[in-house]
Amino acid sequence: MSDTRAKKRFRSQEWFDNPNNPGMTALYVERYQNSTYTRQELMSERPVIGIAQTGSDLAPCNKIHVFLMDRIKAGIREAGGIPMEFPVHPIQETGKRPTAALDRNLAYLGLVEVLHGYPLDGVVLTTGCDKTTPAMLMGAATVDIPAIALNGGPMLDGWWKGKRAGSGAIVWESRRLLAEGKIDYEEFMSRVCSSAPSLGHCNTMGTASTMNAMAEALGMSLTGNSAIPAPFRERMAMAYETGKRIVQMVLDDLKPSDILTREAFENAIVVNAAIGGSTNAPPHLQAVARHAGVELNVKDWETVGFDVPLLVNMQPAGEYLGESFFRAGGVPAVMGELRKAGRIHDGAMTATGRTMGENLAGWESQDRAVIKTYAEPMRQNAGFKVLSGNLFESALMKTSVISKDFQERFLSHPGAEGIHEARAIVFEGPEDYHDRINDPALAIDEDCILFIRGVGCVGYPGSAEVVNMQPPDALIRAGINHLPTVGDGRQSGTSESPSILNASPESVVGGGLAYLATGDRVRLDLNASRMDALVPEDEWQARIDAWKAPEMVHQTPWQEIYRTHVGQLADGGCLELATAYQKVAQSLPRDNH
Ligand code: FES
Ligand code: MG
Repeated sequence: MSDTRAKKRFRSQEWFDNPNNPGMTALYVERYQNSTYTRQELMSERPVIGIAQTGSDLAPCNKIHVFLMDRIKAGIREAGGIPMEFPVHPIQETGKRPTAALDRNLAYLGLVEVLHGYPLDGVVLTTGCDKTTPAMLMGAATVDIPAIALNGGPMLDGWWKGKRAGSGAIVWESRRLLAEGKIDYEEFMSRVCSSAPSLGHCNTMGTASTMNAMAEALGMSLTGNSAIPAPFRERMAMAYETGKRIVQMVLDDLKPSDILTREAFENAIVVNAAIGGSTNAPPHLQAVARHAGVELNVKDWETVGFDVPLLVNMQPAGEYLGESFFRAGGVPAVMGELRKAGRIHDGAMTATGRTMGENLAGWESQDRAVIKTYAEPMRQNAGFKVLSGNLFESALMKTSVISKDFQERFLSHPGAEGIHEARAIVFEGPEDYHDRINDPALAIDEDCILFIRGVGCVGYPGSAEVVNMQPPDALIRAGINHLPTVGDGRQSGTSESPSILNASPESVVGGGLAYLATGDRVRLDLNASRMDALVPEDEWQARIDAWKAPEMVHQTPWQEIYRTHVGQLADGGCLELATAYQKVAQSLPRDNH
């Protein structure tokens, strides 16, 4: 091995080789040598590499990592490191109630404690399902030991009757067919299950593919990591190479704080627009930035990213799925096209030890049906609009999924392009929505906007993906698949609904949505990036004065802790107190006996 290694004293040696405190060193070595390791290797001055295992039976989207573990460990051994796998609190997007978002900060806390409190010199972060990726990046940013992300990869493409069946996307489509009476419950189930043909995470450009693209665009993984489908041999090779690479990162002391810079986040924002990425990326990236101590604001998503064209033809904004995206070159090909147009900060340092510009040299689209060129994109201006007004200080709208039909119905008024006025229908959470959406008394028609509140970080708790509300069955039968929807929760990254979401501050803490009533007129002005309730000011003020915060009912201790400390989606939905703890690896914890 290199000379660097011989000179460097690793953090783990404070545990395993500390002649100043032989009693403790013996205690640490004694127990780790009773299972996997020998005393000689623990005391051999080699870097100890943690592998944060996010896969399990409870977390199927990441279960591929159970099988990749051999290759990760082989890579670490090959490069002279000692691998130590450890479990991460499971986060499963579709299985965890009331929402997996509640657990992102819990897994983050757990990771910080492990990375700080155990003899680790670096870490491989296994990622995949939506919140696993930001939770791992947030923890690594806080502790600031060398860290590299390894995605498990998307599932193979799903197929139903000769057509691509994308994760999530087929759920939203089949829900409408069920509402129209065109399919029965049995076919509904079969259609949805057809979208999950193998191990891996969602095969659409939902939140999982998005967040792994973000990890790569930030420079936190090897080049090409995010798009390789889970069952492909390239995924096994990537696991091995990632294991090898983290050892060298430790030897070079290449840390998250060297990689997670403002420029890296701007690269990620640009890539998110080009891939048609999820509206969950802004809060997750905001959280990573805050834990890394990087200045980022929800408005940056519009100023840095709105004018970026959509390059990737992948569901929900397009037609293809993960296999085609990978074969077309994946994230490096997208970034290569963006780079030719001068949209990428080349100088950003990455986990490879080279700059982003060096990583991307020679990369471009291999299939222009799937990854378009900057000059001939799927559509122009595909980033997020960040709206404000008397209903919220900020809310996001994903423009890459605005369909022609939606544009014509709601946003194309002669002389008032991009402006829409309508009657508000307000629901208090998803249960209320399901109870009343088909109630004829509400008389919901094309002149309505559907609102949902009480579903943010504090309200739900955790912020639920419920804003993409389907119109009443009767409207769907009449051919209206979408109404504008607005809420203080989130929506699935696989949804093609052009909702206005992540409204902050949320209603239960006194955000503007709290004062809206069914029947109010509401005005959306995309040109001015505004949405307002058209209620006279004195009436609005009277509602504010009369408002009482709803009582929160906690079902678990964590729900209460979370609600006490969580901030708003615009600020990343972080545990606010946790953002003060940066670079905690720089201080060693005390001995335990
Ligand atoms: Fe886990 Fe989509 S539900 S990746
Ligand atoms: Mg989801």
